[in-house]
Amino acid sequence: MPGAIDLPLVRTLPVQGRDHATLLQELEALRVADADWRDGRVFSLVYDPGHAHEAFLQEAHSRYFCENGLNPMAFKSLHRMETDVVRMVGALLHGDAETCGTMTSGGTESILLAVKTARDRARRLHPWNQRPEIILPTTAHVAFDKAADAFGLRIRRARLMPDMRVDVRHVKRLINRHTVLLVASAPQYPHGVVDPVADVAKLAQSHKIPMHVDACVGGLILPFIERLGRPVPLWDFRVPGVTSISADLHKYGYTAKGASVLLHRSKDYLQDQIFIATDWPGGVYASPTLPGTRPGGTIAAAWAGMQALGEDGYLALARQTLAAADALRAGIAGIDGLRLLSPDNMPIVTWTSAAPDIDVYAVADQLEARGWHIDRQQDPPSVHLTVMAGHERIAPAYLQDLREAVQFVRAHPGAKSQGNAAMYGMMAKVPFRGMIKKTVRDLYLELYGPEGGKSQGDPAPPDGFVGKMLAQHGEKIDRALDAYQHLRARLMGRN
Ligand SMILES: Cc1ncc(COP(=O)(O)O)c(C=O)c1O
Repeated sequence: MPGAIDLPLVRTLPVQGRDHATLLQELEALRVADADWRDGRVFSLVYDPGHAHEAFLQEAHSRYFCENGLNPMAFKSLHRMETDVVRMVGALLHGDAETCGTMTSGGTESILLAVKTARDRARRLHPWNQRPEIILPTTAHVAFDKAADAFGLRIRRARLMPDMRVDVRHVKRLINRHTVLLVASAPQYPHGVVDPVADVAKLAQSHKIPMHVDACVGGLILPFIERLGRPVPLWDFRVPGVTSISADLHKYGYTAKGASVLLHRSKDYLQDQIFIATDWPGGVYASPTLPGTRPGGTIAAAWAGMQALGEDGYLALARQTLAAADALRAGIAGIDGLRLLSPDNMPIVTWTSAAPDIDVYAVADQLEARGWHIDRQQDPPSVHLTVMAGHERIAPAYLQDLREAVQFVRAHPGAKSQGNAAMYGMMAKVPFRGMIKKTVRDLYLELYGPEGGKSQGDPAPPDGFVGKMLAQHGEKIDRALDAYQHLRARLMGRN
């Protein structure tokens, strides 16, 4: 397990500059508390491209380390590379000669821009619409919430069907004269499910509403999964009615961090993405994306990295990824008491409990104790694995540890009321979401407030209301929350 950082805090600039060698050593020493993704025990955050490709990306990145993509006239190289990258992704996603777009810094920025674009298009075409709304599947990424929050739109969340795909009939019911965008995911993050894009797109077309497909996860792998002969529902520009797509390069594109693409079906949609200020004393200013300065390195690394892999490289990575995901799925399906929530043929594997004596969060704690970095999810409690090519070699070890963890939890019914399991259990179930929000805000204030960085290990568990209640009444609270959840599920017709 990671240790604690053993370096003095730096709170002011050193009076005299320090020597490079020591600083480089310290950079390495700082890693001590990090998740060790190189051993494959981390399932998201880092998409390991393998040593050789990583070294190549670093080389390409460093060649354009100083250049700035803000001004396409000043750095024509970056502009050229960006349009090449956009065209490569557009071709993969079956765009045509009209397809266009920009690179962005990541999935969140692509989504923020997609929402802003829809809002501004509605402002231009329907200026009477003062209360723009977007309709999202319950499982759509929270970046849409962030976007709605930032750009002043209202969100309407559409329910899911039992297979976790968005319920199109509910989407239909939510459409009204304020709707400016429909959204579907390919696939959504929590369970790796592709929404019924074609059906949502039909609604979008018939109501003349733009539709965005969030393929931040799937954009650079689903085309290759399809080419491997696995069934993938249509989700890209082949579907009439899809007007924009976000596809992350720094995920399954295996390029350097800070790279995604937002594609539009045509310039008619792209126009509302572009920000232009004409009256600033600093000059006329235009920018197609959210940041001003745009690092040249990520653009260069994407341009070079995608071509270095080529179709055959991406196919090989997709093949390996599916082999790892298939092995994990088969192993998990064979563990008594667990159930898969994720479908076949996808790179995401999500499991949940199928037995009352198996608490997902207690199993997660046991896996963590065995050195795995765990993504815990809620509603229903589940564990998420974004599977990558490199996971092929660790799948047997994961399954072995998972079996042992499940056995342990079966044999120790108290495990769910202890440690992280108790906290995650409560966070997932407690009906007072404002209380959870406050607890999490407090945690972030601790991380980023004036005292931020002082704690060298993991942040302390919340010592506010939630922490105190847990310490004093852990098991009772858990039972009460279980009863509440059960009742809620019955009232909503889910049980
Ligand atoms: C489906 C989906 N969309 C958007 C995002 C946001 O991407 P980023 O973290 O690059 O901003 C993610 C991140 O995991 C995602 O899974």
